[in-house]
Amino acid sequence: MKNLKIGICGWGNVATGLYKTIKNNYDQITSNGNLNIDIAVIGARRDNPKCDPTNVKIERNIFDVINHDIDVVVELIGGVDTARELILTAIKNKKHVVTANKAVIFNHGNEIFKEAHNNGVRVLYESSVCAGTPAIKILSEELAANKIRKITGMLNGTSNFILSNMEEGANFASTLALAQKEGYAEPDPTFDIEGMDAAHKIGILSSLAFRTSLPPNDFYIEGISSIENIDFKYASEMGYTIKHLAIAKKNKESVELRAHPVLIEKIQYLANLKSVRNGIEIETDLLGILHVAGSGAGQESTASGIISDLVNLANSEKNTSNIDDHKIIPLADFLKLTFQYYIYIEADDIPGVMASITSTFADKKIGIETIVQKEELKEGIVPIVIITDPFLESENAELIKKIDELDSVKKVRSIRIEPF
Ligand code: HSE
Repeated sequence: MKNLKIGICGWGNVATGLYKTIKNNYDQITSNGNLNIDIAVIGARRDNPKCDPTNVKIERNIFDVINHDIDVVVELIGGVDTARELILTAIKNKKHVVTANKAVIFNHGNEIFKEAHNNGVRVLYESSVCAGTPAIKILSEELAANKIRKITGMLNGTSNFILSNMEEGANFASTLALAQKEGYAEPDPTFDIEGMDAAHKIGILSSLAFRTSLPPNDFYIEGISSIENIDFKYASEMGYTIKHLAIAKKNKESVELRAHPVLIEKIQYLANLKSVRNGIEIETDLLGILHVAGSGAGQESTASGIISDLVNLANSEKNTSNIDDHKIIPLADFLKLTFQYYIYIEADDIPGVMASITSTFADKKIGIETIVQKEELKEGIVPIVIITDPFLESENAELIKKIDELDSVKKVRSIRIEPF
């Protein structure tokens, strides 16, 4: 049985969760994982009142952790620049690295994996996507024989927690505060609610699935902050719910990458994952469609993924990073994609308002599948809900602008409908 000496860098929510899980589930981990985990040192800039590390050595300068007699640096400080420096320093000092940090892997993975290869150490990052719900090793190992066509991921636990609570009538801001209290959200929650966290994760999955370098971050990214409770009501009446999805699809010469809110039919698998759950739908040639789902954020789920990396380090020599930094595949042009849209409009309840809206569509030669005027919201203002025919993304911004410019229109927003 291998003895793995680890140094934990960071002492926040995730790190203390890891410490507690190793203590609480020690026998389970040792017998299933065939390893002893020895927490030799913790790098903590300050104490954390929620967790007493008893007699484990504490370093106030996290870089001092690397000088200890350890096999692995577990990087849980978050952020990008210092995390990159810490990981690269650990690698140069011949320490393996385990990290849950998707931002640093997305932004600097190409450099980090190259350095790890040159120094004969491994960098594992299972918890960077979907926390402990298996995603990285599934793509790298279990699906190795498969050609993957498409990954559709619900990859941000905080967004799903907010959306599924809003669906039940909860308010956006108070649900976000609850997600922060539960330890689901990033230190800067704009990463969650503006889609960047999911974008980092789909970028990582895409590179693993299609064996390419990590992509640039200039693909289409949109968050959930403009969605309102009433959108769930109208979406539901038409058989849809609203989720935040991140997509990676292999085309002939390019990869389609995008992360944004969508309407999806309630009958779809991902539509039924609520709260902090994450889910991934993987289209493969040998297995058909594979679904993976589980808790996508929080202390325990993240600890589970980090420990799976430690088990892997102790029992395998294989490098789980199949990211190929030489193979750069161009991103597909988002503006050339085609979507149906849900469009929500608030307009004056006056004769001719429907005609002015439909003529805006006609001018742009965009078809309407359904248009319904709903019950008056307040005196003189009615909501109008439209489902469009499919049209080119490049037409969308201009269409919404033209509708917004109509005198009778007070508010307009749109959400893409995801085809399955
Ligand atoms: N803030 C992230 C989320 C944590 O909500 O999914 C897990 O990566």
